[in-house]
Amino acid sequence: MCGIIGYIGNKNSIPTLIKGLERLEYRGYDSAGICTIQNQRLKNLKVKGRISGLKKNLEFKNLEGNIGIAQTRWATHGAPSKINAHPHLDCKGEIAIVHNGIIENYQALKDILEKEGHKIVSATDSEIIAHLIEKFYQGDLERAVMRALKLLEGAFGLAIIHAKEPKIVVVRKGSPLIIGKGSNEMFVASDAAALLDQTRKVVYLQDNELATVTANSFSVKNLDGKEIEKEIEEIKWTAGQIEKKGYKHFMLKEIFEQPQALENTLRGRIKEKKIKLSLNLDPNSIKRIVLIACGTSWHACLVGKYIIEKLTKIPVEVDYASEFRYRNPLVASQDLLITISQSGETADTLGALKEAELKRAKTLGIVNVVGSTVSREVDSGIFLHAGPEIGVASTKAFTCQLTALTLLALYFQQEKGISPDKEILEELKNISKKIQLILKEADKIKAVAEGFTENKNFLYLGRGINFPVALEGALKLKEISYIHAEGYPAAEMKHGPIALIDKDMPVVFVATRDQTYNKILSNIEEVKARKGRIITVISKEDSKIEELSDFIIKIPETNELLSPILNVVPLQLLAYYIADLKNIDPDRPRNLAKSVTVE
Ligand code: G6P
Repeated sequence: MCGIIGYIGNKNSIPTLIKGLERLEYRGYDSAGICTIQNQRLKNLKVKGRISGLKKNLEFKNLEGNIGIAQTRWATHGAPSKINAHPHLDCKGEIAIVHNGIIENYQALKDILEKEGHKIVSATDSEIIAHLIEKFYQGDLERAVMRALKLLEGAFGLAIIHAKEPKIVVVRKGSPLIIGKGSNEMFVASDAAALLDQTRKVVYLQDNELATVTANSFSVKNLDGKEIEKEIEEIKWTAGQIEKKGYKHFMLKEIFEQPQALENTLRGRIKEKKIKLSLNLDPNSIKRIVLIACGTSWHACLVGKYIIEKLTKIPVEVDYASEFRYRNPLVASQDLLITISQSGETADTLGALKEAELKRAKTLGIVNVVGSTVSREVDSGIFLHAGPEIGVASTKAFTCQLTALTLLALYFQQEKGISPDKEILEELKNISKKIQLILKEADKIKAVAEGFTENKNFLYLGRGINFPVALEGALKLKEISYIHAEGYPAAEMKHGPIALIDKDMPVVFVATRDQTYNKILSNIEEVKARKGRIITVISKEDSKIEELSDFIIKIPETNELLSPILNVVPLQLLAYYIADLKNIDPDRPRNLAKSVTVE
């Protein structure tokens, strides 16, 4: 979603704000803007499009000021345009706000404000916040914000300045916000990535907290005005980790980082054939597991169901977070709710987690971003340690999620008194090297991609534990290349998608050797008989499928439960190369955002 950043200190805020916006651009990139205080007046500059456009703007040269706020937007209310870009100002042009989230009752508030004479110029839900604060402003910004907050419904992270007050007021309700502490300067941002060039010392705001930040201090209050002590924490990620390091795109870099990322997920967690996870729960008390997530993380849940049920015999259900939260789900204290989230900030995932907590289920999070909301809310958790993921389409987080789920299942086995599966333990040692072998074949996958840039549709088919891999392959392709792609269980093809197959339909089969091998072989024959173009992801030494295929991608042998970790890699590369060949920036696909902090 949108990214927000603010600076207050003794330097010109512009370079810091621009750098921060660039770091946040993966959260939204349809418009951007900056507002600074210069000689007790606000200077506001907004553009439609990317941060690069903001920097090129001529007015930009005259912009300075040692207090400023900025935003990169992902539109929710109101089309991407200069007028809808943030910061938004009040009528007098003295109050400026940047907002991440959604104001649900904005229409009602807008009607009231307009009746009172406020002139609202944009089509956004956000602008009314500036006017509401103006309505209550009597010389004290913090107090006016407190009063406005009582009327705002929805989710928001906000940063607010007033031309006459040397401070930034920030609020968090449902959308992440952190304060960064420098020396004689302070920062605010919706994401730690924005601050990595400036400081490692941060304070994470919780929901319903407001902070007033000056160049040398900050104070945090709850919405009743009661002061709250906050701990200053250290960010572990480095600025270097969020550079492209010679790769054309973050997505490609992150695909290639997978061997290292997986090593990091595993590090210190297997010792002398024992799984070391410090979890605050007893698997013997768990009757059922519910896995919930959104997007790619939801596909990890589907794979997780196979792994956990097979190794632990605990029944597992999988649900979309957005569906789970609103259907009054049947969960209770003997259920374990596992939320999987790269960012730890996805609004629907957080909503589902809250629902499960209300029903007293135990909760566990599998999360990449340390300090994120999911990681703070759950009873226990496993961090992926995959490093920052910037590409909007998730890649390394997915394979690390599968690795973490495998560790968790092995841990449950162990705590139930069964020795963790020896073959899997052994194979986990080799899995990174096997990914490396696949990555060495990247050029061959690029050559396959060259034949498919003009196609309008794709079908991805897989069975068993590799059915979710087919879904993930299809999702990657549609996200970044805008080619319509569907993932299906291969056997279900006969019940619908087979009607689509002709010489123009590429069908990707995930068909490495496993218990359903013979079945998927028949499904490939069925496509062949209808002249579909067949791309297969197969095990080494598989001449049978090789003969039937138009294109093959060979995968090293591995344990079936780990096969999705390897099989997804060529599908990530295929999607990446098709997008790149079509000249689409895969790091910033249209209409998508990295972290969806609205419902
Ligand atoms: C967005 C991203 C996806 C991601 C999903 C869930 O849609 O574009 O890549 O899988 O959100 O995000 P999470 O951070 O909860 O894993």
